[in-house]
Amino acid sequence: MTDANIMKKNAGYYAAELVEDGMIVGLGTGSTVFFAMEKISAMINEGLDIVGVPTSYQAMRRAREYGIPLGTLDDYPTLDLAIDGADQIDPKLRMIKGRGAAQTMEKCVCDAADSFIVVSDPSKLSDRLDAVVPVEVIPFACSTMMETIRKLGGVPVVREGVKKDGPVITDSGNFEIDCSFGVISDPENLESRLNNIPGVLSCGLFTQYSSKTKVVIGKKNDVEVI
Ligand code: A5P
Repeated sequence: MTDANIMKKNAGYYAAELVEDGMIVGLGTGSTVFFAMEKISAMINEGLDIVGVPTSYQAMRRAREYGIPLGTLDDYPTLDLAIDGADQIDPKLRMIKGRGAAQTMEKCVCDAADSFIVVSDPSKLSDRLDAVVPVEVIPFACSTMMETIRKLGGVPVVREGVKKDGPVITDSGNFEIDCSFGVISDPENLESRLNNIPGVLSCGLFTQYSSKTKVVIGKKNDVEVI
């Protein structure tokens, strides 16, 4: 296993051990959460009884492979905790998510959870947020939304597929626009301005959940919990 995967595995396994019998658990998207699911699967085989609420088709498919019983937010409008990854995390535990184009459902699940456990490795920590901000938008509003992004000082690019011609289509049937803003000096303000653009479902800035967030940073031999 590569060093990067060892760190992800340590973070994922630590998070899985926070899961207790009877919990409803949000299952995030990305490679680090897969390790949490792997461990949860082993715990289920030893008698743990939980229900997972996946945040994407990717999470749903992997959870099914691992034999994790699944439900939806309709079944479980409140969750005990959500385990998810992140793409960039600042010292105030504000973050950018959505590399997997799953931030809208990830945010719904995070919002519904009592506690948000973010599994990561040291490469995601940054003293400021300056990564591209993914924004999911309905196709009808794509051009007007991009014009608004430019007026906000951003550079929007429609995300295109690696194995598909044309725009990436999100799990909810929309476009994903990656928006560069350089260093984001006021992430709360930018999140709310992006969310207010007509046609936008949600952006990848997560600035409102720090108080219920724990970030688990996997290291080679242990984890650091922030
Ligand atoms: C998915 O849309 C993102 O928010 C992921 O949570 C993120 O990309 C983490 O992925 P890794 O754990 O693979 O870095």
